[in-house]
Amino acid sequence: MLPRQFLPPVNRSMKVLDKSVFQKTVPLSAARIFDVRRTGEIRKICRPDALHLPKIDVLQWDPDQEKYKGRKVMILKPEVKHDDLSTVSEATRRLVEEKAIELIPYDLKLNYDHWGYDDIIAAVLPDTLTEIPTSFAQAGHLAHLNLRAEVSEYRHLIGSIILSKNPQLSTVVNKLEDVGTGSVFRTFPMEVIAGEPNTVVEVKESNCIFRFDFAKGFNPGEAISDVMCGVGPFALPAAKKGCIVYANDLNPESITSLRENIKINKVNPWINPYNIDGRAFIRHSIQDLYAKHRSGNPLAIPPRPPRSPLSSKPPIPQVPKLVPYPITFAHFVMNLPASAVEFIDAFIGSYNFLSTQEERDEMKKHMPTIHVHTFHREQPGSEEEARAKEDVVGEVSKYLEHKMEVDQVDVYEVRRVAPNKVMYCASFKLPVEVAFREVEEREAWRMPEPAMREIECKALGGGWLGWLRSWWLSFWRIVWKRGFKI
Ligand SMILES: C[S@@+](CC[C@H](N)C(=O)[O-])C[C@H]1O[C@@H](n2cnc3c(N)ncnc32)[C@H](O)[C@@H]1O
Repeated sequence: MLPRQFLPPVNRSMKVLDKSVFQKTVPLSAARIFDVRRTGEIRKICRPDALHLPKIDVLQWDPDQEKYKGRKVMILKPEVKHDDLSTVSEATRRLVEEKAIELIPYDLKLNYDHWGYDDIIAAVLPDTLTEIPTSFAQAGHLAHLNLRAEVSEYRHLIGSIILSKNPQLSTVVNKLEDVGTGSVFRTFPMEVIAGEPNTVVEVKESNCIFRFDFAKGFNPGEAISDVMCGVGPFALPAAKKGCIVYANDLNPESITSLRENIKINKVNPWINPYNIDGRAFIRHSIQDLYAKHRSGNPLAIPPRPPRSPLSSKPPIPQVPKLVPYPITFAHFVMNLPASAVEFIDAFIGSYNFLSTQEERDEMKKHMPTIHVHTFHREQPGSEEEARAKEDVVGEVSKYLEHKMEVDQVDVYEVRRVAPNKVMYCASFKLPVEVAFREVEEREAWRMPEPAMREIECKALGGGWLGWLRSWWLSFWRIVWKRGFKI
């Protein structure tokens, strides 16, 4: 905290940032250095009397530049009086007597740039607040705040101050309401309170660039389905954020690594790993999540073990965190740019398993957003480049077997992977008409028998008992199919 006389002027009526208000002159004393060549040496000797404040250089140009051109003065602490040598240290007094320096009055001029965020915010917000908003989360160029209702009327001012004090930022958003557990299916509403209304951010992690729309990002309590998850670069951070994740990859090696990564990152209960074809996974995961939702049993996250078992404090009762299973996925992520778009046929009729009209009507309110990566061949500046978005939307329409309009699909460039090849990500809400279309089940959508058996076995308790129960069930299914004629 700065000493009082160095604090910025208080202006509690400000609603829009006005930097010109923050001008202040603090009367101090300074040591005029006669010989420029001795500046370094004198600075060291006078150090105990010098003013040490962040953002203020102790050496300033001499205010009398006409007479002392190119010379500097050293600003001294407020306790030092230029006309009273008893207020300085012995060493400084000796320099005065030697005529190496002279003590003069000095007006230190402060402006907006001299103060940090905390000092400015304390000067403009009501002093009756219980807590001053000081922290924000950052993603790329975007700062994300969760302001309390009591400072809501100052949100634009707070946003502008954050922006001006953090040159790496260009957008500040505020979460409009707490997501809590009651609103687990929606992306949280947010408002841009300062800067450009651009919420598409780029984050660099482990030498990779991740680009995503922050406003449409994953939110705690949502369910996410990562259809081609690899070793989990999307699935793991989403689980860390408190999302229920279904993660699948056809490559068994990737899933072995994913399981390892789940352990290392301690996100075990949040992620369901699968090792099947993407199409079968899409259809299975939708039904599996819905069954869990209908069961009414939430996901139970075990409490963390107490930090130190040797602690003398009485243990706090540990209760598991209960997370309700959403009715369906908020997002499907499909990052296999060479062919992921072809997999979206698996969404056709994917919600047909719902038998009652009531269930279907409820589900229609929660259609997932699908994010699919795809390549497009184009020369920069060519006609193909101009048509890229329409072409990508055309591909999406082709595999959905449903005409999508250009404004129904967000298409953004992920990166140019070769001079004539660009990776795009197309994001769109699954149309209700596609989700509930009556279609024959296609061979590619079916879950292979071994995978089906493994899932059933797990659901029936796992281990050899699970296998036994699963085979026993299969036996009765066959008997039932044959009309109980063996
Ligand atoms: C480009 S990598 C992306 C991995 C991960 N999503 C990421 O962002 O790093 C594509 C992944 O798709 C997987 N894959 C390929 N064919 C698949 C299929 N038919 N079903 C599911 N996954 C598949 C590959 O094994 C590979 O891990």
